[in-house]
Amino acid sequence: MTSARVAAIPGDGIGTEVMDSAKAVLARLLPLTGDNIAWTDLDWSCERYLTEGALMPDDGLGLLREHDAVLLGAVGWPGVPDHVSLWGLLIPIRRMFQQYVNLRPVRVMEGVPSPLRPDLAEGVDLLIVRENSEGEYSEIGGRFGAGTPVESAFQQSVFTRTGVERIARFAAERAERRRGRIVAATKSNGIIHTMPFWDEVVAETTAHYSVETTFEHIDALAAKLVLHPARYDVVLGSNLFGDILSDLAAGVCGSIGIAPSANVDPTGTYPSMFEPVHGSAPDIAGRGIANPVGMLWSTVMMLEHLGAARAAGLLMEAIAETLRDPATRTADIGGTADTAAVTDAVISHVTRSA
Ligand code: NAI
Ligand code: MG
Repeated sequence: MTSARVAAIPGDGIGTEVMDSAKAVLARLLPLTGDNIAWTDLDWSCERYLTEGALMPDDGLGLLREHDAVLLGAVGWPGVPDHVSLWGLLIPIRRMFQQYVNLRPVRVMEGVPSPLRPDLAEGVDLLIVRENSEGEYSEIGGRFGAGTPVESAFQQSVFTRTGVERIARFAAERAERRRGRIVAATKSNGIIHTMPFWDEVVAETTAHYSVETTFEHIDALAAKLVLHPARYDVVLGSNLFGDILSDLAAGVCGSIGIAPSANVDPTGTYPSMFEPVHGSAPDIAGRGIANPVGMLWSTVMMLEHLGAARAAGLLMEAIAETLRDPATRTADIGGTADTAAVTDAVISHVTRSA
């Protein structure tokens, strides 16, 4: 990358605070590596919804389409139902832009207390690859006989060969660049149509790569991710299983405040979207104490995606350095630093090592 166009959607609550942090860091980092980002700042949020009746304008997706990536803070605020904020912004972006991969790297970082015993937490470095476009999260279904004694609800899962093959290929490519191991979450003993199909297509697809693929039932895998998280490399899951496992794995690492994520269209046809895992945190918003690390780590993923490998590496190293120092940790990970102090520390590590 030398120059990229990025749409910035700070959103609500601490989303705006961590966005400021990311932009401040990039303003100092990118000139050092000869990269440049042209920002488009978008005020799409619950606040906009309350004044204008929609989170984004009618031509919102068309506007985003002109960009190389989207960086998002968090969307959601008390007074606006969460399904409005989710279906009014995030889901349309993920679906329309074919962001069929949700990526969540999980690492126990030095200085971030894990709830696990230190001997278990040591060396945890895994990548959760979640199918992000089909599977269990479909609109197909409905309610039958509402208000009668036979009232029933039906919801259909959708697993397509195309959909499973492409997520399996993505997982295999990532695993080849890592430790070469994929564990795919399944439940083929209980869910007897879609899950055996998922297993079959994942096994066939990944057989073409230099990786070892094994299958674990989701329930057992959930336990093992807590008991022996360091054994895992790439964990591949359907939309539902991947969703649950990524929060579980983030919990293993100690704080939601540091967890990053990416919604990726690997074909590059549409912009991919990068966002911290956490939400708008109304309970601490406006106080300047949010942990910006989840956002900064998401920014690392964005830089990698845009091909700015050197900038990404420098930023990740600066984040790790900052977390190592007790004086530059926020309250959610046991420190007393505020957002600005963490941001300044990251900037000073970046400028020193560049
Ligand atoms: P949340 O992630 O906003 O907060 C959960 C808890 O973690 C809170 O106690 C909060 O203070 C703490 N926390 C979160 N991020 C932190 C950070 N960076 N530094 C320090 N502490 C942090 O989840 P919650 O409360 O369930 O949701 C609040 C709003 O955010 C809701 O409207 C929800 O819909 C929305 N949300 C949006 C997401 C998105 O934009 N992708 C994801 C999750 C929630
Ligand atoms: Mg989730």
